[in-house]
This record gives sequence, structure tokens and C-alpha cells, in this order.
Amino acid sequence: MTKPPDTFRADVVAGLSRAAKELPCKYFYDEAGARLFDRICDLPEYYLTRAELEVMGSHAGEMAAALGAGCLVIEYGSGSSLKTPLLMSRLRYPAGYVPVDISREHLYASAAALAARLPGVEVRPVWADFTERFDVPAVAAPVRRRVVYFPGSTVGNFGPDDALRLLTGIAALCGPGGGLLVGVDLRKPAAVIEPAYNDRAGVTAAFNRNLLVRINRELGADFDPARFDHRAFFNAEHSRVEMHLVSREPQVVRVGGAVVRFAAGESVRTECSYKYAPEAFRRLAAMAGLEVVRTWTDAHHLFSVQLLAVGS
Ligand SMILES: C[S@@+](CC[C@H](N)C(=O)[O-])C[C@H]1O[C@@H](n2cnc3c(N)ncnc32)[C@H](O)[C@@H]1O
Repeated sequence: MTKPPDTFRADVVAGLSRAAKELPCKYFYDEAGARLFDRICDLPEYYLTRAELEVMGSHAGEMAAALGAGCLVIEYGSGSSLKTPLLMSRLRYPAGYVPVDISREHLYASAAALAARLPGVEVRPVWADFTERFDVPAVAAPVRRRVVYFPGSTVGNFGPDDALRLLTGIAALCGPGGGLLVGVDLRKPAAVIEPAYNDRAGVTAAFNRNLLVRINRELGADFDPARFDHRAFFNAEHSRVEMHLVSREPQVVRVGGAVVRFAAGESVRTECSYKYAPEAFRRLAAMAGLEVVRTWTDAHHLFSVQLLAVGS
């Protein structure tokens, strides 16, 4: 079994030791975090999931036709595999489905639920960090082509250099003739984007603060999450939403053997979510050796699902 490397303590201490404090967003997804994310997907303000489901509902047949028969579908950051049945049920003779996620319990539960829904498809979950090398399990059916499915705008959580590294790795994993089907949130006015990260029910704030709860539990830290405010805003210069936890007052926290000081108003950046103009994503993908073949969007052009081919 592949197992994500245990770098939680080192990453947290390193991130909180920087002049501009930050924490990697991949650590949001402990069991409670994964559940909170599912609730975010249902929020009226979170247009991303609704728009992507609309795109998949309207165009999954065309996507499946473009991908052809015999695909091994490897899903990056599969979570609840919410959108996956829409694709898998339209594919001809899929060779198998390999969900890959860092959130172990959630991954195995979702994989079992999906296997029950798609009885003819071999489902082989992989608990791994997809930014690291992992082995793709063998499946019984012949594989004509590897396809990475990467929905949910998770690619947007990576800055330009990391996104390029990740996409380059996907191109290598799929190999010549392989494909990538990726959900990309589109650039649009801040007034449309920001409410999605500042919901009235406070679920996103709870998701953000849950990272501190996890650090307390797993690293024996003494954060008081109530002494941090949730803040999320669109940074137009970098075309990204930034999510922060802002210290309400001066405080000292012990984390994994380190002592971390916060000034009043000092923030920890916990997530970025890049929003792409179609041309910007096309340029990034091209640098990774991936060519955008087709793009589908929802009726309001909020969100895109893009099919990319690995160059030879
Ligand atoms: C934004 S959610 C998207 C979930 C789902 N794909 C969807 O479209 O609703 C991100 C998912 O990616 C997983 N994830 C984040 N970083 C990861 C990493 N480095 N390696 C593996 N999984 C990761 C999280 O556990 C979570 O399930």
C-alpha cells in the first residue's frame, strides 16, 4: 500500500516559522475536514460544485466519446467521488477506476460506495499524496489509455510552479496517448467569487479553523481556534482567492516542540485557489506538455471542464 509521507509536523513548523506564515492546504482533509468540505459543496454560495455538476451532467457523454473505450481512470483528490459516476457511467468498457486521495477513511468509504454503484468496474483506491510518486495498481481488464480525472478545482490550489510540476507529473503518469480531464474555475469578478469562500452559515470558517483543531490533536499543539478569524478574499494581482486565519490578539502557541508568536492581526495563509482565464490555463498546460483539446463550461461561464491530451 502506498502511504503518504508523514511530513505533517515538519511542514507545519516550517510554515509557521516563515515571515509570512502559511500552512499547506492538503492538511485540511482529516475526517472532520473532509465532512466539512462535503457540506461546503452543498452551500448556496459555493457555485463551483453546482457549476461543475452542471457541466458534467450536460457533457459527460461527449467527454466519454472523446476519451474512447478501455480507459483506466485515475482520479486525483477524489474525496466523495461526487462527479465521478457521471463520467464513469458514460465511458465504454472502462478498464478500471483508481481514486487517489490523502484522506484515508474518506477515500476507502467513497471507493466502496462507488464500487457498489458501478458493479462492472474494478475500483482500486490509492491512499497517497498525489504530489509525490505513487504506484498505479494493476487491473484485470486491458488498458487502452490512462486518463487522469482531476475535478473540483483542486488544481487551483497550486501556485504556478507547483501546478506546472503537478501537470508535468500527470503527463508522465498518463504517457503518450493519455489524457487529463480537469475542472478549472474561471476568472471572474471578485463579487461573484468571494461569497463562495465566505458563506453565511460559517461552514468555510469552520473548515478553515479545523486545521488548528487537527494540529492540536495530532501534534499536541495548544491553539485556541476561537482566537483566530476566518478571512477570504480575491487577490486580483495573482488571480487567486486567499484564505487566512487571522490572530485576534497577540498570542504565543506551542506547536510540535516550537514556540510560535502571533501579533494582533497577523495572519496564516491556509489556502490559495487560482482562477484561470482559459488562455492562461492553456499556456500553463502547454508548458507541461499537455494540449487543451476541448473545453466545456456551464451556462453562466463560471467553471470549465477541460480535456487535455499528452503530447508525443
Ligand atoms: C477541493 S477537494 C475536491 C474533492 C472532489 N474531487 C470534488 O470535486 O468535490 C480536494 C480533495 O483532494 C484531496 N487532496 C488535497 N491535496 C491532496 C494531495 N496532495 N494528495 C492527495 N489528495 C489530496 C483532499 O483530501 C480532497 O478530497
